[in-house]
Amino acid sequence: MPQAAPAHASAPPDIPERRVRLHINGTPQDVVVAPWVTLLDLLRDHLGLTGSKKGCDHGQCGACTVLRDGRRINACLALAVSLDGQAITTVEGLASPDGHLHPLQQAFIDHDAFQCGYCTPGQLCSAVGLLNEGGAATPEALRELMSGNLCRCGAYPQILKAVSTIALQPLAGDDEADAVLPLDPPEPVVAVADGATKVQA
Ligand code: FES
Ligand code: FES
Repeated sequence: MPQAAPAHASAPPDIPERRVRLHINGTPQDVVVAPWVTLLDLLRDHLGLTGSKKGCDHGQCGACTVLRDGRRINACLALAVSLDGQAITTVEGLASPDGHLHPLQQAFIDHDAFQCGYCTPGQLCSAVGLLNEGGAATPEALRELMSGNLCRCGAYPQILKAVSTIALQPLAGDDEADAVLPLDPPEPVVAVADGATKVQA
C-alpha cells in the first residue's frame, strides 16, 4: 500500500488544512489535506493510486469512479475533507488480498471488455457498485445503470456483456451472489508502528 505523501504543499498559509482519515482499500490513511483537494487528486497525486483516471474532471465521464462505503461516486467531485472516516475502494482494491481477481475483473478479461483501458477502472468500480445496489433486472436497466461511465473506444457491447454475466438479475443463487457482492468494504488494517499508516504534519 502506498504511503501518504504530503497533501498540503499548495495550501496558502491563511487557509486551514484538515486532518482526515480515510480507509483506502482496507488500510487507514491519515493525511493533512487542503480543503479544495478532491478525492481523485488525493488518490492519484498524493497516495500514488493512479488506477482511478481523470477524464473530464467534471463528473461527466465516470473514469474516476470509486466506491465510498460500497457505493459508487465520482472521485473528481468529492472533496477529500468531506470523507473523513469513510471507506474508499479503488480499482486497486477490487482483487482479494491473495491476488484473486474480482469476478467482474475476470469477466472483463473473458469478454475482452476493453481496448485502451482508460475507462476500465471506472467501469469496474461502477459495476461493483451496481452489484452492491442489487444488480440490474433487465439488460435495458443494466445499460441505464452503467450509463454514467463513458468509453471513448466504444467497447460498450463487450463491457455490457461482461457486466451482465455478473450483475444481471436473477443472480445464480444466494450463495453465489454473496460471493460476488462485496457489500461491506474490507476490514481496515489497524495502524501499526512500522509506518503502515503515515500522518503528514
Ligand atoms: S473525471 Fe470524474 S467524472 Fe470524469
Ligand atoms: S476502453 Fe478505451 S475508453 Fe474505454
